[in-house]
Amino acid sequence: MFERCAIPLNHRLNIAVFGSGRGSNFNAILDAIKDGRIPGARVCLVISNNSTTGILEIARANSLPAIHLSQKQFADETAFVDAMLMQLHQCKANLIVLAGYMKRLPSRVVQAYRYRVLNIHPALLPKFGGVGMYGMHVHEAVIAARERVSGATVHIVDEEYDNGPVVLQRTVPVSPDDTPDSLAAKVLQIEHAIYPEAIRMIAEGRVPVAGEQLAAHSL
Ligand code: GRF
Repeated sequence: MFERCAIPLNHRLNIAVFGSGRGSNFNAILDAIKDGRIPGARVCLVISNNSTTGILEIARANSLPAIHLSQKQFADETAFVDAMLMQLHQCKANLIVLAGYMKRLPSRVVQAYRYRVLNIHPALLPKFGGVGMYGMHVHEAVIAARERVSGATVHIVDEEYDNGPVVLQRTVPVSPDDTPDSLAAKVLQIEHAIYPEAIRMIAEGRVPVAGEQLAAHSL
């Protein structure tokens, strides 16, 4: 069974995108690839735990392989994770991008793709992250805490929620009259800018992890 991603990151980037919802970050990443802002990158697969989601529709509209993959389709977790790893292996994925994926990525996948899984979070981690901090809850908490600045964070995924090393962060001001909705809209604009940038940094080997360059990290 495939348990380790063997394709170095300094090869062509084959990106598997995971999502559960509307897919606006995925769209921003696709636009960046189409415009040549992430040279050598392609999306090899889109996986969603929901069968009817924006992210799957966007993938299909762009003729990209897209599948619905949910634990409910399998007898047990082992079979589910085996199927997920097999799909990633078959499309030769060497980077996983979580774009609004509402499930915890199975730990065997995190292990197989150590330092090769990215997530975007709509706040300035380590603040406003962790269990329960998703969607509008994040922006409600930022406003309730009277923060004057929020933003978005792209980070490497490890076994804990919102915990791995930060790749890129950008801030937005929080105005006194901001509502969770208005703040979410401002942060989303930033997300659409920094997620493609962070992937470009990975592609160019500019992301140091524990003193190493990711591109040089061979498994
Ligand atoms: C984004 O706000 C992202 O920060 C969070 O989930 C949301 C996904 O939105 N992880 P979209 O599906 O990319 O539009």
